Amino acid sequence: MRISQIIAGEKGLSRTDVIAAVCLALNLSKEQLFSHMDREIGRDDLGAVRKVLGERAAGRPLAYMTGTREFFSETFSVNEAVLIPRPETEVLVEEALALIGDRQELTVLDMGTGSGAIGIVIAKHTGNRVVCADISEAALAVARGNARSIGVEERTRFICSDLFEAFRVGTRFDMVLSNPPYVADDEWDSLMADVRDFEPSRALRGGKEGLEVYRRIAAELPRRLAPAGSVLLEIGSPAQAGTVGAMLEEAGLRVSVRKDYSGRERVLAGHG
Ligand SMILES: C[S@@+](CC[C@H](N)C(=O)[O-])C[C@H]1O[C@@H](n2cnc3c(N)ncnc32)[C@H](O)[C@@H]1O
Repeated sequence: MRISQIIAGEKGLSRTDVIAAVCLALNLSKEQLFSHMDREIGRDDLGAVRKVLGERAAGRPLAYMTGTREFFSETFSVNEAVLIPRPETEVLVEEALALIGDRQELTVLDMGTGSGAIGIVIAKHTGNRVVCADISEAALAVARGNARSIGVEERTRFICSDLFEAFRVGTRFDMVLSNPPYVADDEWDSLMADVRDFEPSRALRGGKEGLEVYRRIAAELPRRLAPAGSVLLEIGSPAQAGTVGAMLEEAGLRVSVRKDYSGRERVLAGHG
């Protein structure tokens, strides 16, 4: 069977998914694939292609199959212990980079670091030290590996903690960054199967209204933000902006909102 026939015959998946799956199974780049469309493939390779296509059709995200995902032009290793970093989260990173500017010696916290995407990019681009915290040891193992491969091992520290519980009393940060779990219980069943059945539920579910982790973070901010410090929180929907904004105001912060590139409120900032 030719590669072109496999691609043409696969009806259940998008062309992008089929091409990516065939590349992965045959260990080809996209460029190599397009220049070998007429290549006949043998039984073993066909078996490998069918296996990857089958897994993808069952919803398994390609990033878990390839084991990598690009975020802010860096290659992050990912596995089922971590959320696959999303392009929307780059907006939070852009906002943090703009706020930090060329300031050095800041204490920065990435709360709920997952693969380390946010904290590692901030450490790389600003030279500041970043503490990356997560409740999941398995996620922290992935994040540590990413800090090593991206070359910021010296500037990052990893802490297993249920939010601030493992932090010493009196530890404060100039900047707290977080993309917390924010899916509400009644949204869970309507999530795409790729997300719901494969990504870690602890990275996604934010309690009844999706606001539980925001509420806990906001309650801690008066004790955890340094004077004139800032917090940046990704939100899941514009509907969360008002409620999370009110939580930050309650914590005594001045609030601003940043939209993403599709015009949706995406990041809430609170400034002391
Ligand atoms: C939406 S994911 C974000 C991952 C990563 N920061 C990103 O943006 O790709 C939320 C992360 O928060 C972590 N998390 C959930 N509840 C937590 C808690 N109570 N304390 C610390 N981390 C928590 C999850 O394990 C997960 O890694």
